[in-house]
Amino acid sequence: MQNVKLAVVILAAGKSTRFKSKKTKVLHELCGKPMIEWILDAALPLEPAQTIIVYGTHSTALTETYAAGYSSLEIDFVLQEPTLGTAHAMEQCKPALNSDITHLLVLPGDSPLVTAAHLEQLKPVMQHSHVTHAVLTADVADAGDLGRVLRDPDYPDLASRIVEAHEATPKELRINEINTGIYLFERSVFENLVEAADKFGASEKKGEYYLPDVVRVAPTLAVKAADFDTPIGVNDRAQLNLAEQALLRRIREHWMAEGVTFHLPDTTYLHHNVELAPDVEVGPHCLLTHGTKVGSGTILVQGCLLETCVVGENCELRHVRGLMSVIDDNVTAGPYVNMRPGTHIRSNCKVGNFVETKNADIGEGSKLPHLQYIGDATLGEGCNIGAGTIFCNYDGFNKLHTTLGKGVFIGSNSSIQGGVTIEEGAYVAMASAITMSVPSGALGIGRAHQVNKPDYVERLKNRLKKRKEKAEALKKNSEGASGG
Ligand code: UD1
Ligand code: CA
Repeated sequence: MQNVKLAVVILAAGKSTRFKSKKTKVLHELCGKPMIEWILDAALPLEPAQTIIVYGTHSTALTETYAAGYSSLEIDFVLQEPTLGTAHAMEQCKPALNSDITHLLVLPGDSPLVTAAHLEQLKPVMQHSHVTHAVLTADVADAGDLGRVLRDPDYPDLASRIVEAHEATPKELRINEINTGIYLFERSVFENLVEAADKFGASEKKGEYYLPDVVRVAPTLAVKAADFDTPIGVNDRAQLNLAEQALLRRIREHWMAEGVTFHLPDTTYLHHNVELAPDVEVGPHCLLTHGTKVGSGTILVQGCLLETCVVGENCELRHVRGLMSVIDDNVTAGPYVNMRPGTHIRSNCKVGNFVETKNADIGEGSKLPHLQYIGDATLGEGCNIGAGTIFCNYDGFNKLHTTLGKGVFIGSNSSIQGGVTIEEGAYVAMASAITMSVPSGALGIGRAHQVNKPDYVERLKNRLKKRKEKAEALKKNSEGASGG
């Protein structure tokens, strides 16, 4: 193998008019990762010596987003202005290429389904000196507006022309082999070819100089990728959706191979960076995003929306919505639990139904079974919080932290004023408004005594009946007076 120094060039200066977005197309996310990063990730294993992004005046956001590089890659930026086509974009790169670069891999910024394995297939260009350049092609059922690959009849390994759909004859349009827009060139060949391709001029219809025209200058090794998912390029939102579905399938299949069960997988949305342990089961309608991790044996029965959460082992969660929260092992939660940021539910707890938590550390083995709001609180081990308990953590200005010791028992329908401490083993009587701390072992009662009035109901009814009769009589009189 030659002493290869590879430059990866990502083309992202196109105007993306079909996308109709204020945001640069290649920064739109699929499964939580910007389109261009799927492409950069595919190129990473080739260990490029230089990485160039070609951007336009409406995609300057790229220069800010990747100013510090991407992963292990430093990124150089080349401005293409005006945007006169893919060949013109490559022309702009010439002065930016490091002197020691020997090869160039060209990738369109809108092909998030490309994989490292696809790029591997172009490696012959870097391995054999007689193979100077290659294009990656694919067979697709519906070639749509993609460039059609015409192979050389005498040398079928080579493409002799790539025809853009809008310039193709009806016969050419029937060709199913298309240009993926991915090319690998030996550097000197690249420089000559791009210059020579200029002679074909700009496309009459689009006024653009086409990189595929290099194939017309010098027949090009056309490597057909066996399993390139469609869409090949993402030009509009419908294709964005199709590409995201393809990536979702890949992510799910990856986790299935790692021992995860999906019930009704098509209803589950996953980000690229979730981590699922073996024997996790994911039921219908779950969204696991932003680096959520789920431990072995945990069952997300249905409807769990977990964003940046860490869930331990052997939990059972139903309709749990969690944001930046942690659940330890053997926890049962739901249905309908809303864990807001800073929640930590420790092992063996039972939480829900209808419970909201925020910035709350719930001690091991605690029970919060029905209808609670627990905000800004630390609960010791084995607390039991009765139905309808509210932690009143906000006075309009301050967030106040409540602390419960080990084994505290709160009776149903109690309000706990923020800032109090209920010490180890204390009880709170049901329906209490707790405004003072409760010492260890004490019973806190914060409500009026109950009074029973014997035989009072009959007297009460009579009084109420008379009040009603009096009101009706008054009404009648006033109507009589106004009637004249
Ligand atoms: C291109 C190919 C087509 C191929 C298809 C694969 C050309 C002329 N056609 O078509 O053969 O089948 O990709 O998806 O190359 N770009 C620039 N500067 C420009 C124009 C485009 O950087 O002046 C960038 C775009 O941002 C995009 C990429 O190049 O990331 C491809 O351009 P696009 O306009 O999407 O080309 P297609 O019509 O999809
Ligand atoms: Ca495209």
